[in-house]
Amino acid sequence: MTMIPVDFATSELNDLTGHSGCLVVFADAEPDGDARRVDQSCQGAIARAMASEAWGDVKPGEALELAFPSGLGAEMLLLVRLPRDAAGDLARKAGARIARSLGSQGAVIAARSVAHLPQLVEGLALRAYRWTLNTSEKKPLGAVTVAVTDPEAACAECADSLIRAEAVHFTRDLVNEPANILTTSEFAARIDAMRDLGLEVEILEESDLQALGMLALLAVGQGSESPSKVAVMRWAGAEGAPLALIGKGVVFDTGGISIKPAAGMEEMVGDMGGAGVVSGTMRALAARKAKAHVVGIVGLVENMPDGRAQRPGDVVTSMKGDTIEVINTDAEGRLVLADIMWYAQTRFEPTAMIDLATLTGAMLIALGHDKAGVFSNDDALCNDLLAACASEDEGAWRMPLAPSYDALIKTRVADMKNTGGRAAGAITAAQFLQRFVKPGVAWAHIDIAGVSQPVGETEMSPKGPSGWGVRALDRLVRDRFEA
Ligand code: BES
Ligand code: MN
Ligand code: ZN
Repeated sequence: MTMIPVDFATSELNDLTGHSGCLVVFADAEPDGDARRVDQSCQGAIARAMASEAWGDVKPGEALELAFPSGLGAEMLLLVRLPRDAAGDLARKAGARIARSLGSQGAVIAARSVAHLPQLVEGLALRAYRWTLNTSEKKPLGAVTVAVTDPEAACAECADSLIRAEAVHFTRDLVNEPANILTTSEFAARIDAMRDLGLEVEILEESDLQALGMLALLAVGQGSESPSKVAVMRWAGAEGAPLALIGKGVVFDTGGISIKPAAGMEEMVGDMGGAGVVSGTMRALAARKAKAHVVGIVGLVENMPDGRAQRPGDVVTSMKGDTIEVINTDAEGRLVLADIMWYAQTRFEPTAMIDLATLTGAMLIALGHDKAGVFSNDDALCNDLLAACASEDEGAWRMPLAPSYDALIKTRVADMKNTGGRAAGAITAAQFLQRFVKPGVAWAHIDIAGVSQPVGETEMSPKGPSGWGVRALDRLVRDRFEA
């Protein structure tokens, strides 16, 4: 979906009072600055609103809507409470609040006094997302003008915010797209189109995967009409060993022969969420020309029941050479990840590797939709990752790994089995993945089954896919991997 247009202009009173959409002003204790200027044009409506009981209930970052204020061209005056000394995350929250009042008429924001404009613009752009691609609703959200003292400087300051928000929208679009539209081929094509941003892209086809020995990944896709693919994205913004980002891209997960119940199965259009986040992050890194070396590798498959589909009891050999007994064909994500993680390490020798996957229902049960589960063999990487999540306000919680859980995926007939039963389901999945991490590689696994598609709207996203992780990973790259 296209981002709302955001431009920057000087703060002429006529442009503020004449705007026909939403006029946004900031205030806290008393009308000062832009709020005071506008207040004179609307016969003191702002001062009266701020003297009301209603304003007393408005918390920092929240707002009061005044409809059709006389003296102004605006259909709505949005009075946002933002203290002058507010921190960046409050500015982001205020931006998202503005987006919630945005209509097709657009808005002008009197922002001369805003201290953290990039965060405000980021919150605004993140929350102003609408998924209408496959509906007949074609009335887009209107353009936003940010009125400041120095538009050129503000535009430069906010450039990365808009890049990141656009990348989050890209990820949400991928998760939203149904599986009849976002097939493995279509997903690969959307990744391929990112060459325009300077990203190196390679698409490995089934014959390539066969030659590489990715038989665990291929087994997952063998019941589908859509060909399995692996997309390799590379952003070489610096020398040296890369960071590897790995994503589960199951474009639809029926469960396979171990078929899922009908109720709620449609949610599995989002089972490529990990690949969506990796693709969105690579997009952001390329668009902002990050000074870091990062590879993004996603496994694109569809898990379908069919005469050629894999069966429970099958034994498959992974690219690593370890054999896996497939107890449940619905535990398919780990089979995909095992092979692309191994491939990433043998080909790129990364210093660190982070995989993202909508991997287990157990993770959703454990942490709900608010926090992703993070598993890691490296405290330093894990702490940096958690700090990045915290600074972007993307929920994350560390989960344990321990050799004792390995007993649960032991089997008589192969090196391991692909499920460990109901107990500790998210952990046994992570233990399984850890077997495909080479010694010395710092690794983190993020189970995003809960956070990828929250049930309702969140602060930064309307109902639907959140794009969780794009901002945190971009932040991590900035703070830990950039020169
Ligand atoms: N894609 C699902 C996990 C999932 C469930 C993601 C709900 C988002 C919401 C995964 O492939 C799966 O089916 N996992 C099984 C594993 C089990 C068979 C060991 C699960 O969690 O039930
Ligand atoms: Mn599954
Ligand atoms: Zn799945």
